[in-house]
Amino acid sequence: MIIETVMTSLNNKNELNFSAIGVQFIKDKLVFYPYKNTITAENILATKRGVVNIVDRSYYLVLAALSEASFAVKETALGNYYLKDCCNYYEFQLSAISDLGEKYKINAKITAQNNISNFIGFNRADNLLLEAAVIASRIGITKKVKDLKNYLAENREIIFKTGDHKSKESYLFLKEYLQRQEE
Ligand SMILES: Cc1cc2nc3c(=O)[nH]c(=O)nc-3n(C[C@H](O)[C@H](O)[C@H](O)COP(=O)(O)O)c2cc1C
Repeated sequence: MIIETVMTSLNNKNELNFSAIGVQFIKDKLVFYPYKNTITAENILATKRGVVNIVDRSYYLVLAALSEASFAVKETALGNYYLKDCCNYYEFQLSAISDLGEKYKINAKITAQNNISNFIGFNRADNLLLEAAVIASRIGITKKVKDLKNYLAENREIIFKTGDHKSKESYLFLKEYLQRQEE
């Protein structure tokens, strides 16, 4: 099973980066597949460590995937950073890396973990926005601009009905993202 997470990683200058990454949890190990052209891949190759943040708001995944996001964080004893608003976080150390062409396969070992807050529960707006972020991040790979346009139009009503102000903010961010792609 793949869990969609926010990954925080550092470069050699201690500059923090956020991205959305799908992660498989296998006992105390993690497997994930960053594209080679991502800052996340560069950072993990450089520093050999990072943090997987489990979130219950799609807002973080939308912005981490599609913008130069900057969220409130806290430092851990190991010198990593986790999202202040996460449910749990897992610090990891790189253990193996394979070259898969466009992507790397990264195997990592969990070195520390912590529970920060309770999962709020399933929310339809959050689920729909997460899927919208996936479509947006795959434009030019497996998706087209019109796929995002249609998806946002089809799901606007239910997102606004079942979400809150953060869902609305994410939706408007995705609409602006779409407009920039259409230019
Ligand atoms: C839910 C979700 C899951 C994603 N999973 C991955 C993934 O597993 N690997 C990957 O390379 N990109 C994935 N992406 C796309 C990255 O988040 C996106 O390319 C991002 O811009 C990379 O950021 P970075 O260059 O700051 O590392 C995902 C996006 C979303 C919305």
